[in-house]
Amino acid sequence: MYRNTPPTIHLKDYRPPEFLIDQVDLRFELDPDTTQVEATLAIRRNPAATRGDGNLRLDGEQLELEYLAIDDRPLARSEYRVEPEALILRRVPDRFRLVTRVRIHPARNTALEGLYQSGSMLCTQCEAEGFRRITYFLDRPDVMARFSTTLIADRDRFPILLANGNPGPSQDLGDGRHLARWDDPFPKPCYLFALVAGDLHQVEDRFTTASGREVSLRLFVEPEHHDQCEHAMRSLKKAMRWDEERYGREYDLDVYLIVAVSHFNMGAMENKGLNIFNAKYVLARPDTATDQDYLGIQGVIAHEYFHNWTGNRITCRDWFQLSLKEGFTVFRDQEFSADMGSRDVTRIADVRNLRNRQFPEDSGPLAHPVRPDAYIEINNFYTATVYEKGAELVRMLATLLGPDAFRRGTDLYFARHDGQAVTIEDFIACLAEASGRDLGPFLRWYAQPGTPELEVRDQWEDETGTYRLTIRQRIPATSDRPSSGPLPIPVAVGLLDAKGRDLPLHLADEPAPTPAGTRVLELHTDETSFRFVGLAARPIPSLLRGFSAPVKVRYDYSDQDLVFLMTHDSDGFNRWDAAQSLAQRLLLQGVSEPNTPLPSGFIDAFRRTLTDEDADPGLRAEILTLPSEAYLGDQMETVDVEGIHRARETLIGQIATTLRAELLATYRANQDPGPYRLTPLAIGRRALKNLALAYLMHTSDDETLALCQAQFAAHQNMTDVMAALRWLVEAGGETADQALDAFYRRWSDDALVVDKWFGIQALSQRDDTLLRVESLLDHEAFTMTNPNRLRSLVGTFCLMNQLRFHAASGAGYVFLVDRVLELDPKNPQIAARLVQALAQWRRFDETRRGLMRGQLERLFHTPDLSKDVYEVVAKTLG
Ligand code: ARG
Ligand code: ZN
Repeated sequence: MYRNTPPTIHLKDYRPPEFLIDQVDLRFELDPDTTQVEATLAIRRNPAATRGDGNLRLDGEQLELEYLAIDDRPLARSEYRVEPEALILRRVPDRFRLVTRVRIHPARNTALEGLYQSGSMLCTQCEAEGFRRITYFLDRPDVMARFSTTLIADRDRFPILLANGNPGPSQDLGDGRHLARWDDPFPKPCYLFALVAGDLHQVEDRFTTASGREVSLRLFVEPEHHDQCEHAMRSLKKAMRWDEERYGREYDLDVYLIVAVSHFNMGAMENKGLNIFNAKYVLARPDTATDQDYLGIQGVIAHEYFHNWTGNRITCRDWFQLSLKEGFTVFRDQEFSADMGSRDVTRIADVRNLRNRQFPEDSGPLAHPVRPDAYIEINNFYTATVYEKGAELVRMLATLLGPDAFRRGTDLYFARHDGQAVTIEDFIACLAEASGRDLGPFLRWYAQPGTPELEVRDQWEDETGTYRLTIRQRIPATSDRPSSGPLPIPVAVGLLDAKGRDLPLHLADEPAPTPAGTRVLELHTDETSFRFVGLAARPIPSLLRGFSAPVKVRYDYSDQDLVFLMTHDSDGFNRWDAAQSLAQRLLLQGVSEPNTPLPSGFIDAFRRTLTDEDADPGLRAEILTLPSEAYLGDQMETVDVEGIHRARETLIGQIATTLRAELLATYRANQDPGPYRLTPLAIGRRALKNLALAYLMHTSDDETLALCQAQFAAHQNMTDVMAALRWLVEAGGETADQALDAFYRRWSDDALVVDKWFGIQALSQRDDTLLRVESLLDHEAFTMTNPNRLRSLVGTFCLMNQLRFHAASGAGYVFLVDRVLELDPKNPQIAARLVQALAQWRRFDETRRGLMRGQLERLFHTPDLSKDVYEVVAKTLG
């Protein structure tokens, strides 16, 4: 039990800061055990704020204060007070220079917030509130200051010393130590502060911006990874060019630094001029990284780069506005990835991710608006809702405005708010002004939690050739807040004729049709009707093309309609979506009535897609991938863990048996003995081949097992090796153990590959998986102190293995909570993420519900939980 409930912070309580900080000069004497931080702050009263009690309260946690002076006069004990989370200075002048000196202990920092040690290097993570663990400061994003950073450290242990901005003079201090100075000319909030010290390998490249600025690009990695940097560097240059072309945004410093660290809580961090990355999103070589890893790196490198404008030059006024930078930046990285690869496949992956992660969040106990209005621990709000749903909101704005007005709007935003800390309203106002549209109602999207549903009905009038679509929006009720009113929703639709061709679209109140293809209908009220005229026969509607809004569509398609759309729709996304809807329908039927025959045409449509040489192989692979067990569970009133598994396995088996010949042919036709290439075609062919392998291995016989073993042994690239290993592990027995041993022996020195080795075992659907996972906790390579390692074993099992985590015995739940209790005192951020494996507890049968609740209560009654875990547990229990 939390002794005193931690306070809730509310958006409505926002007040401008009473004091501002114009300049910060930091001086670090770095040492893993004890680092000394001296900060000189130029502070003044904020003319725009109301006067308080005259005291100044600076944030600070786990700091040992050694020295404190105002305008060079050390303060007496009566002039200040040190609290666990603050330093309070009594009656300060209106303008003054504050010097503080504190001691901190990086090597003891297991939370990985603030300054910490990763391997032999020292690095920082300050977002959201880590800077207060480095020095006393106004740790809030609307306090923007110029920073200079002086780093002093042992020259042999830490030859590389990095901080934000441009490099200044460096110096040998003669006593074995050296000094480096960095100056950041751009005012920034302290969450963007960073430093790195280490013995690192450097890869250098250059980039000339559109206006001719020369930028030195430098990637820093631990020396053994020197040959895994090429892809990250190439991705960075592509991202820099793309942002110039698509948004007119150029880079603004002389250097752009990226450091890969092996201990990192999240993906990466956009610190000004000095991005710090989880090594997972930097390092790649064809034999160590899968296609998904490569794409992930490209996306995250771009994401952090794009933050330089959407996040750094323009930042958030307060943390409730987090989606201002994250939603927009995710939208930007998604579009970049779509431009670099296959647009359909990229969109499908993004939407699958949204549906698998954000939809459940939005319907469960942790649901919150894209702009939350209250939090206990802000780190709990780096969520799929703030990021991915936030990106969908920006996407809808771009769709509603069209490319030209959207670009005018973003140009205006960058011009008007450069150097400021702003709100979501400020962003929307620029888009509204540039487009002449009233976007007031759109703000409801930021305030309204829950996934809206669109109920679509249609009506065909043969005599007049008129087709009427009626769309009703329904916003699920949430207990504690009234509906915000109807949402503006762009619905991209097409109408298909009997041959599958797009029809021209002629709305009744318009003089002429728009050309055959897609058009965006807008919903502004609870119910809207659209009358299409001039049609020769009843069309088949293709709704919400490209997933033009983050909603669920309810329309009564027949099985035959879905087969038709899956094979004919000109919108690749909707071909996939039709296949998903149909598969979902069959699978859920299979759960309740296991022996229902497959509708005619289903296997046939599968066969046609498999063998359709004209279509993008990547898209075909997506269409032929069945929805996951967890996604199916989310579609049920009560999740039937075993029933879903059984139904899904049965359908896979039927497909595998019926289409064995085609699957084998597809497998063979898409083998590519050439060098690894990262083109959409090459990626798509690997995906299709490995999909065929997955089906074939389901009914594994000697022939397919041999194929799989050969693929594993060939070491063509990590994509193929992992695909083969996955099914060898699933096959079990000696084959599995041999493959796992061989893999581990080969890769035991490469941490990211060892993570895959743990992950693949945690993912296994075999019935002894929990036992295996438990014994892997004692493996020489397992450690709770590396977040990637922890996620690969514990995270994968609890969050991605529905069948085994939710074993009816409840053993998975006990296992999870044991780990959370072990982890919480050390790394509360990661502990709070893990607890979310129990967030859907109310959706399960009574037995499991009881078992999960029991474990949640066990947590709730633990003394001294972190704020992070407390908040998640308290909300989950409700
Ligand atoms: N701003 C970073 C990104 O989106 C994420 C950092 C989140 N860190 C945290 N501790 N909550 O790229
Ligand atoms: Zn981000």
